[in-house]
Amino acid sequence: YIFCILSKSEGLIFLNHAFILSIHSPYFCTTMNAKQLAAEHAVQFVKDGMTSGLGTGSTSAFAIEAIGKKVRDGISIKAVASSVRSEDLAKEVGIKLIPFAEGESIDIYIDGADEVDKNHNLIKGGGAALLREKILAFNSKQFLVIVDSSKIVEHLGKFPLPVEIVPFAMELTLKQLQKTGCSTSVRMNNTTPLITDNGNLIIDCDFKKIEEVEQLHQLINNIPGVVENGLFLNKIVKKVIVGYENGEVKVLDK
Ligand code: 5RP
Repeated sequence: YIFCILSKSEGLIFLNHAFILSIHSPYFCTTMNAKQLAAEHAVQFVKDGMTSGLGTGSTSAFAIEAIGKKVRDGISIKAVASSVRSEDLAKEVGIKLIPFAEGESIDIYIDGADEVDKNHNLIKGGGAALLREKILAFNSKQFLVIVDSSKIVEHLGKFPLPVEIVPFAMELTLKQLQKTGCSTSVRMNNTTPLITDNGNLIIDCDFKKIEEVEQLHQLINNIPGVVENGLFLNKIVKKVIVGYENGEVKVLDK
C-alpha cells in the first residue's frame, strides 16, 4: 500500500492508512492510493465550460477534490451532485452547484462503483445514493467509472445489490425481491433503517452471483415499490478507469 521515496523533507507524516510514520523523519513517504489515481486521471476530461455530475463515495470524493482544484486554478464549471454529502464537499472545495432541473445537459459524470464486470456492467449504491447516481449517469454525455482494481470482478453479485424502495408496504416488496433469487437485508443506520436522500429505504439483496444482468435489472424494476436498483448496465458506461496500487492507471474503453 505504501511506497516511500527518500528525500530530505522533515515533518509529521500522516498516511492515508491512518498511522503516523514519523516525526521529523528524514524521509518523505507517499501512498499510491489507487482510488485517487483513478479519480485524478478521470478529472483531466473535465474541461472549461462543462457541466459535471459529481458522484458519491470515497473514490468520488477524490474526484470532487481534484475538480475543486481545477476550479481554483481558473476553469469554470457547473456541477450537479448525486448526494447531499457530495453537495457539501463540492461547496467546501469551491465548485458551483446548480439545481438538478438546470442540469439538463450533463457533459461528464464521474463516479465510483462497488463492482465492475468484464462487460463493464456495474453494481453501485454502496453509499446509498444509487437513484440520483443513476439519473445522472443516464443523462450524461459521458459516464466515467473510477475504481481501484479490487472492484473488477468476473461476475457481479458478491457485493449485495442495493435496491432503493419506498417505505410503504416494505414487507411485501421484500418478499417480491426474495422471489428474484436473493436474500434481503434492510440497510441500517446504527439502530434504525437508513433513509436515503430521497426519503426511501435501501435493501441489500445478496445474489452471490448474478448471471443475467439485464434480465435481473428489468425484473427488479418491475416490482411495485421498487424505485431503482443498483445494476448499471454497460450501455450507459463510457469508460472504466482503474487505479492500481503500483501507480498504474488503466482506461478500459468499450
Ligand atoms: C455510492 C456508490 C459508490 O460509488 C460506491 O459505493 C463505491 O464507493 P467507494 O468509492 O467509497 O468505494 O455507488 O452509492
